[in-house]
Amino acid sequence: MKAIVVTDQAAGTAGMKLAERPEPQAAINDVIVQVHASAMTGDELSWPSTWTDRHDRDRTPSIPGHELAGVVTALGYGTTGLSVGQRVFGLTDWYRDGTLAEYVVVEARNLAPLPGDVDFTVGSAVVMPGLTAWQGLFEHGRLRAGQRVLIHGAAGIVGSMAVQLAREAGAYVIGTGRATHRQTALTFGAQEFVDLDSDTLENTAQVDLVFDVFGGDIAKRSAGVIRTGGTLVTVAGPTEARPDGGLTIDFVVVPDRAQLSELIRRVRDGRLRTNIGHVSPLEDAVAAFNPTERVKGKTIIRVRP
Ligand SMILES: NC(=O)c1ccc[n+]([C@@H]2O[C@H](COP(=O)([O-])OP(=O)(O)OC[C@H]3O[C@@H](n4cnc5c(N)ncnc54)[C@H](OP(=O)(O)O)[C@@H]3O)[C@@H](O)[C@H]2O)c1
Repeated sequence: MKAIVVTDQAAGTAGMKLAERPEPQAAINDVIVQVHASAMTGDELSWPSTWTDRHDRDRTPSIPGHELAGVVTALGYGTTGLSVGQRVFGLTDWYRDGTLAEYVVVEARNLAPLPGDVDFTVGSAVVMPGLTAWQGLFEHGRLRAGQRVLIHGAAGIVGSMAVQLAREAGAYVIGTGRATHRQTALTFGAQEFVDLDSDTLENTAQVDLVFDVFGGDIAKRSAGVIRTGGTLVTVAGPTEARPDGGLTIDFVVVPDRAQLSELIRRVRDGRLRTNIGHVSPLEDAVAAFNPTERVKGKTIIRVRP
């Protein structure tokens, strides 16, 4: 099968190559999915799981990308709950070969059915940002109606999902970003916007929750706008930032079938929009992940036209 492979961590996305690889085999509880649309997260090539297996053994050449929408073509021994021919979408195991390929093997429990009226491109685009936003706001952040939440990077891929989900849940949403992101953040549903280039973050009235995608100094300064006992949730790695009397939770997104189904229900009825920047065929994926100018929104690889 055709796949994008990486062999050199130092090379980053510039080291990606289109190659011929053997088709994957399904183990117990796995399914094989023919990938129709695929995506990857920017930082993935810096994670150890892209380069080794769980025993820290080199597994290159690795196939990156862990977000997909496609069709089940085979079931492993004992696999239940999905059938051959079914449309599915979801997040695959970081330690196994990924979705920038014609076929991928994935545990059935990591996938959810993709309704027939949702395009594969849209299905693949909702997986990572949707699950990340859902888990950050509702599982880790315990956001409730009437609370105030500050969402960093509100015009970005994860942030724009978080803004929409928080609004729908009845929260008051303050987005942040660059000056040029204001209109996009407001269009996704933010009620206020803090321009991190020229507004003073510390002047924001106190919030119950901060959803952080930046880490570093911005995460530290954000702790000061959280009410006593509130929560800072971050997807940018461990941070020293601590709200007064509250919690800081750094997390990595995990697959979740029930949450995927909640997300796709919202996509179908128009409550949730994806933030897609560029769609490219697998043959052009290397160029798509090495753009000559910044692409805003998610890059989707349409593996099958
Ligand atoms: N832990 C997890 O499970 C998890 C899951 C998903 C993503 N992530 C991480 O979350 C981060 C965000 O991902 P994403 O896909 O949402 O990226 P993204 O689409 O690039 O979103 C980031 C947004 O913040 C803006 N921004 C960046 N630096 C800024 C600054 N200094 N001041 C103001 N605005 C700034 C970006 O604007 P420009 O486009 O103009 O730079 C963009 O609008 C990445 O580091 C990603 O790896 C973690």
